Amino acid sequence: MKHSILVTGGAGYIGSHTTLALLEAGHEVIVLDNLANSSLESLRRVERICGKAATFVEGDIRDRALLDSIFARYSIDAVLHFAGLKAVGESVQQPLAYYENNVSGSVVLFQAMAAASVFNLVFSSSATVYGEPKQMPISEDCPTGTPTNPYGRSKLMIEEILRDLSLSEPRWSIAVLRYFNPVGAHSSGLIGEDPNGIPNNLLPYISQVAVGKLQKLSVYGDDYPTVDGTGVRDYIHVVDLADGHLKALAAIATEQGVHVWNLGTGQGYSVLQMVSAFEQAAGVTVPYAIVPRRGGDIAECWADPKKAAHELGWQAKHSLDDMMHDTWRWQQSNPNGFSQ
Ligand code: NAD
Ligand code: WQD
Repeated sequence: MKHSILVTGGAGYIGSHTTLALLEAGHEVIVLDNLANSSLESLRRVERICGKAATFVEGDIRDRALLDSIFARYSIDAVLHFAGLKAVGESVQQPLAYYENNVSGSVVLFQAMAAASVFNLVFSSSATVYGEPKQMPISEDCPTGTPTNPYGRSKLMIEEILRDLSLSEPRWSIAVLRYFNPVGAHSSGLIGEDPNGIPNNLLPYISQVAVGKLQKLSVYGDDYPTVDGTGVRDYIHVVDLADGHLKALAAIATEQGVHVWNLGTGQGYSVLQMVSAFEQAAGVTVPYAIVPRRGGDIAECWADPKKAAHELGWQAKHSLDDMMHDTWRWQQSNPNGFSQ
């Protein structure tokens, strides 16, 4: 069935891939984004790929009047809420910006949704809410821990707000999606991750070294108790992640309450395994140096994705090799991201 979906942060990395998947599935999409960390070019590319356009509204989730006007104008069935700030290091420097954008912004959005009687919500959470994991793999019933930075704490706070909201008003149907490490790009090479400045995350850094924009990768520590001493993560292709949102949207259409799903592959790879998989896919050498551990990093983290498989009928389909090829295609054809 065709639905009208409001996608906050829909011009961003994960939001643009999900907007594409929604349009391809025949939904009407309204994107609200303040372009703080994205470019409208991403949505033009989405239109080029699928021949359909999302309606774009430039603005902020903290702007209640704007939200009210969107809910009045469009008959919104559900909200996919991606908008927020996401740079871990920056959140330590500017905690108030993170609490204001992520926590206060979400509160304003939820207030506007309730006022418009829109109770279907998919929220972008993160595996960071598990803190230092006590067991591996991480399933949804593992207790949440203490995230090591304001960004992570903002995600955990929003999750708690959503639980309170659902207790206060049973009409809320909420999917909390805990992403592991999103990577990759659409296979067209037209949309992908376009980090501002020097990338914080591993794969964008590797691909910028490969394309010659950065000299060498710093590997943060080789003395972790892991397969080769470097950090292990569960990298998930962004197109699989987008598909998970469509499945979650379908699930909450019939299920009230708050539902938490991990979106990961269930397989961990170390930093050095990522470097060598990238080198193999791209056919280039990625110079690197081992440097001390990065503060706040954990040794390893990967998902138990069984709950999403059973309840959503979702599982990641893209291989590590797909992630590497798609990242490289995007990076090579867009060395400067969306600003050509
Ligand atoms: P992104 O920065 O590419 O996308 C976020 C979008 O939100 C951007 O387009 C930005 O301009 C917009 N935005 C920010 N603040 C806004 C505001 N106040 N009002 C309106 N728009 C605003 O990030 P992404 O990687 O696509 O992440 C999307 C969501 O997923 C975020 O909530 C992020 O915290 C979460 N998440 C990301 C990762 C990851 O590693 N990429 C992992 C787990 C969770
Ligand atoms: C992965 C591995 C690093 C860069 C972060 C956030 C998390 C979530 C996803 C939003 C680690 C190592 C990295 C580099 C390196 N975001 N590394 N050199 O830290 O698992 O997760 O992004 O919710 O909240 O914390 O991802 O890509 O930064 O690091 O050696 O230049 O690569 O130490 O082992 P991380 P990452």
